[in-house]
Amino acid sequence: MNKVLSIPIILIGVGNVGKAVLRQLLEIRHSFAERSGCYLQPVCVADSSGVVFDPDGISEETLQTIIRIRSRGQRIESLPYARRATSLNDILVPHAVIVDVTASGEMLKVLRAGYDLGCRIVLANKKPVAARWSEAHWLYENDNVRYEATVGAGLPVISTVRQLRETGDRILAIEGCMSGTLGFICAELERGVPYSVAIREAKSLGYTEPDPRDDLSGQDVARKALILARTAGWPLESDAIEVEPLYPDSLASLSIEDFMDATTRLDSVYSSENHEAQAKGHVLRYIARVNSTGGKVGLVSVPRDSAWGALRGSANYIAFTTTRYDAIPLAVSGPGAGAEVTAAGVLSDILSLQNYYEQKEKYEHPNHEVRRNLGGFYRSN
Ligand SMILES: NC(=O)c1ccc[n+]([C@@H]2O[C@H](COP(=O)([O-])OP(=O)(O)OC[C@H]3O[C@@H](n4cnc5c(N)ncnc54)[C@H](OP(=O)(O)O)[C@@H]3O)[C@@H](O)[C@H]2O)c1
Repeated sequence: MNKVLSIPIILIGVGNVGKAVLRQLLEIRHSFAERSGCYLQPVCVADSSGVVFDPDGISEETLQTIIRIRSRGQRIESLPYARRATSLNDILVPHAVIVDVTASGEMLKVLRAGYDLGCRIVLANKKPVAARWSEAHWLYENDNVRYEATVGAGLPVISTVRQLRETGDRILAIEGCMSGTLGFICAELERGVPYSVAIREAKSLGYTEPDPRDDLSGQDVARKALILARTAGWPLESDAIEVEPLYPDSLASLSIEDFMDATTRLDSVYSSENHEAQAKGHVLRYIARVNSTGGKVGLVSVPRDSAWGALRGSANYIAFTTTRYDAIPLAVSGPGAGAEVTAAGVLSDILSLQNYYEQKEKYEHPNHEVRRNLGGFYRSN
């Protein structure tokens, strides 16, 4: 085999997705190295409490320890060789692949600083790509940036948009059911389950965020619609997408507990919407619709026997109407949530940044450059 190049990986975030990324990376990196000559080598792993850093590559044993302690609810700061990251800028090393699997709104500056050092970027975190266009535009149409897992988890949604555009097609409209949580709630309403009960169920099954309003607000779906719009070549701002939350403003400032109690007040509202839909042979689905001028995200009544009506569980369905796919839209469908499929999307993005060899000289002596950036961090072993 040719000489193997070591590709430094900086993993920011070790939650459900980050842990699965580490596990999957450990599983495939030897075969990937044999095939490609590139060895994926984590050099930094950070959560919000601290960072483990080793310029020679964090050992497999340490990576397994990180997965184990995070699965027990402990944080990286509890490891004796971890250091507190005063600023994530301190852990950037030139030409690394930075993997943002946080849900933090603070990452854009760090990503930009890394990019300016020659890093490539892979995101599952929607917030940087959904920031104001003036701050986020460089993440789009950039060969050194991938963000497939931000929409539809591991489904090939972003790559479909890219391919459509690259082959000269013009996207006219995008519609999607893109929230597993809201999909579950809609399916429960369809079964006649009251709104308040459906939300309690979704929360107890771990389908919602700790505060279910983070899902019910529709903002997460609106971010996905914005990301799709921008990928389609429409540089919209978030206020171009109208969002219909699944609760009224009057419940916005209640504590989580009071909100959960107050949801019973909405039972009759959603029950009658559901009955109205059913009387027409329809069902309710939470759908995002976007085109070059803007979009809307909200509850829509759709025929029960349509592709939308047939959706179950966390299934996503995203349809692209284009100049070539005009009568019947091109659709991508499948499970749109879950740590394993999301991590697979992230990993596939890392692997797809495949011109490592073309940039070979950057990786010949990675440790030399990494060491210059060591700052005060301890090595992991
Ligand atoms: N789960 C899915 O099915 C799915 C699907 C598609 C996309 N995504 C996206 O993937 C991302 C990760 O999801 P998840 O389910 O893994 O979330 P999660 O379990 O909440 O994990 C988030 C991780 O990010 C870390 N973090 C937060 N702020 C940080 C900061 N400023 N610096 C360093 N680390 C920070 C957290 O550390 P602490 O624990 O120390 O705070 C935690 O390790 C999210 O953006 C989510 O929207 C998830």
